[in-house]
Amino acid sequence: MMNHIPVITIDGPSASGKGTVAQRVANTLGFHYLDSGALYRLVALAGLQHDIDWQDGSALGDLVPHLNVHFDGEQIFLNNHEVSAQVRSEQMSQGASQVAVHPQVRKALVSWQHRLRQLPGLVADGRDMGTVIFPDAQCKVFLTASAEVRADRRFKQLSQCKVAADYQAILQDLQARDQRDRERSSSPLVQAADAHLLDTDTLNIEQAVAQVLDWYQKSI
Ligand code: C5P
Repeated sequence: MMNHIPVITIDGPSASGKGTVAQRVANTLGFHYLDSGALYRLVALAGLQHDIDWQDGSALGDLVPHLNVHFDGEQIFLNNHEVSAQVRSEQMSQGASQVAVHPQVRKALVSWQHRLRQLPGLVADGRDMGTVIFPDAQCKVFLTASAEVRADRRFKQLSQCKVAADYQAILQDLQARDQRDRERSSSPLVQAADAHLLDTDTLNIEQAVAQVLDWYQKSI
């Protein structure tokens, strides 16, 4: 019996800022935080390390129970090696989006995600948190922004880190990932019927966080 433990789900397309918003909401409430995208990124990385093709859903699904993963704040460890930077690389953004289409991979990750529902509560971000993984969540948010605004934010982020970036390439990559996420048959990216829509085109992070906290307080 876990469903007395509150969950806030924040789903939405790539680079919509949901990770930052989810983390800040979790910190404010003292809740746990699940970055479900990191799990798909880890599967892509482990596949690469084991020479498993990202198109081979069955072999990737079989690999999941054998992964030795742990999170320590912002750091991610796979088989006791720190892989945080690799997991967040553009290569793994691409890989995650490809391994995430396989039902075998999605199924293997379900119990892993459910285990993170612990007191005093959980904020979970991803694509299917409110629709598939935590359909009984107390407060659901679908956080979005136009592809152009998201590409612009990503471009500025990379430029600030002095990483060479091409706006058009970023925009095309985001659109390709959006399309793959929305069109896959297994747990596609879709707004849950009972989710609040939060369009952040004209909102900053603080305003988005305040809105999610307000919805959560009203749901208690
Ligand atoms: O959120 P993030 O960009 O890190 O996710 C990487 C990829 O993992 C996404 O493009 C998506 O294809 C996949 N994903 C998913 N379901 C989730 C979280 C992420 O399919 N719950």
